[in-house]
This record gives sequence, C-alpha cells and structure tokens, in this order.
Amino acid sequence: MKTLFGRLADGTEIHRWSLENGGTRMKVLSYGGIVQSLEIPDRDGRYADVSLGFDRIEEYVDSSPYFGALIGRYGNRIGKGAFTLDGETHRLSVDDGENSLHGGAEGFDRRVWEVEPFTEGPDVGLRLSYTSVDGEQGYPGTLRAKVTYTLTARGDWRIDYEATTDKATVVNLTSHVYWNLAGAGSGTIEDHELQLAASHYTPTDAGLIPTGELAPVEGTPFDFRESKPIGRDLRTGHPQLLAAKGYDHNWALDKGVTAEPEHIATLHDPSSGRTLRIATSEPGVQFYSGNFLDGTLVGPGGRSYRQGDALCLETQHYPDSPNHPSFPSTVLRPGETYRTTTIHSFPA
Ligand code: BGC
Repeated sequence: MKTLFGRLADGTEIHRWSLENGGTRMKVLSYGGIVQSLEIPDRDGRYADVSLGFDRIEEYVDSSPYFGALIGRYGNRIGKGAFTLDGETHRLSVDDGENSLHGGAEGFDRRVWEVEPFTEGPDVGLRLSYTSVDGEQGYPGTLRAKVTYTLTARGDWRIDYEATTDKATVVNLTSHVYWNLAGAGSGTIEDHELQLAASHYTPTDAGLIPTGELAPVEGTPFDFRESKPIGRDLRTGHPQLLAAKGYDHNWALDKGVTAEPEHIATLHDPSSGRTLRIATSEPGVQFYSGNFLDGTLVGPGGRSYRQGDALCLETQHYPDSPNHPSFPSTVLRPGETYRTTTIHSFPA
C-alpha cells in the first residue's frame, strides 16, 4: 500500500509503502529508501517497532542521524575525504570533521528514490533505484544503484544491492537501521546479547578512521565470538572504546567476501525474546552502539532517544578501504556489476 508521507521544501512528494509478509511488517519511504518502521512479534506474539524512526518527513530532513536509511555511495568514513584511483585524486564532500562520512553531506540517505512494488511467488518487496551523476559528492562516474527490499514468506527482510558505473569509482552501500529489539524508545540496548563471527576488528584513530591494522579481538572488549550482553565490557576503559564513546568499529568477518550471504551476527533481547540474525556476502560489519544519540530526538511514541538506546549493524566493506590497499577492494569499473546481499531474519 502506498500513501503520501509528506513533501520536501521544494514540494517533492514523499511516499510511504507498507509491506507485510511472514509475520514481518515494514514501512519504507521514497526519501533515502528509509525503513521508517519494522515490526516483529515478541515471544507472546505482541508486535513492536524495533527500528528507530520519526513521524514526519521534516524530522528526517532536519535532524536524522541516518535512521533506517540507505547509505551511499560509501558506507562509513573515507579519511580526509579523499582517495586516489588510477593516479587521479578525488576530493569528496567532507561532513565529519576532516573526513567524509556515509557518502558526504548529501548522500543516498537524502535522495529521493524511485520505488516499484513487486510480488514474486511467495515474496513481496520494493525495487528502489537512484542514479548518482558523475561527480556527485566528489565521486567519479555515473553510478546507477538498484536496491531490492524483499520480505519473504518466512518474514525475512532481504536486501540486494546492485550498481554499475561508467567510470572507475569506489562503492560501498549499506543500510543504517537503528535496532532496539525491545521496541524503539523503550530504553537501553545494553542488555541485548550480541554475537559476531569475527576474530579481528579494525582499530581506528581519533577521527574513527582505521589505522590499517587488523587487531585480534581475543582478550579485549571486542570479542563477541560468544554471545554476550553489549553492556558487559562497555565501561572497561579500553582506549578504542574511549575514543569512540563506545563501540563504533568495523569487525573483519572471518568468512571474508562470499558469493552467497553467510551468517555473521545474532542479536537477542532477553526481555522480549526477539532475535535478529544477519547473513551477508560482505566482509565487514560496523557495530555502532548508538553513542551519539543524545536525548534530543523524539520518536513517534513521544519517547526520546538517548545514548545506547539503539544499535546499528551495518554490513559493508571496511571503512576507508580506498586508502588501504590491504583491505578488500571497493573499486568498481565500467562493465562490472557491484552485487551484495544482506538478509535479516527474525526467528521465533
Ligand atoms: C558511524 C558513526 C556515526 C553514525 C551516524 C555510524 O555508521 O559509524 O560513527 O556517528 O553512523 O549516526
């Protein structure tokens, strides 16, 4: 079902699509491909919206920290907002200190996407597309991005990303849902239990740019190989946690890049019994513990969002890969097709 959600300042209409399948309900905006709400049942069948969002388009435009949005052209940071490819240096939109974050000041999260609903066998979904012109936010090449959101018969939310370019470029698309499995606005996620299939992570400098090192998680607060409550090691004073105000790092997934999505993360909320499992074809995941939520934003239920009231698990290539030849490559050339898949499932 499609409804008018609101209008941008220039009058552009923003629509909202409602989807439901296999017990999962989802609302998606044409602005930023934003997942405005995602509802799943708890152990007693009671539904809650488990993704932070807003009621009004103005709030997304004026103050959203990427709630539920598609991120492009480059998920996470590129150091000093510059990279060199084939001998040419490209200067990007800088929107995070001296760095470029999430595609720059006017990233894919702030673009109006074309949206086509579909039904295919037992699945329902939306095909979103956006063409980013050559030079947009400093990135070379015209990038044609297609993102498919599918709700499967068993209630999985699958995302298939695709992109092509007419000049060599870099690309790293992801989704920025802020999860709280007890319900958006219900309080902290510190009791949620998280498991990540990674024995290394990429430590960062003060600006949250990877140093290039792949550090073992063994014996550190970054060890989520066995499920543990997110809050357990959050206050241990580890220098990496102090610098980022919590977890805001890329875990280098043990499986690396895979042709098919493989399981990499399980998030469980003991209070509601809700569980999220993530499988991806990507080599990394940014686990962000909502450190910069500061109580100034208010969700649909009238509840404010404070530090640690949600977390993000952004499947991706590593941050700043264009400046680290040792990281898996994010280069896309004409004639190639960028393809990645991430599947979110909500086992009962
Ligand atoms: C980044 C955080 C940033 C947040 C935006 C995350 O993906 O890692 O550093 O603050 O997005 O709200």
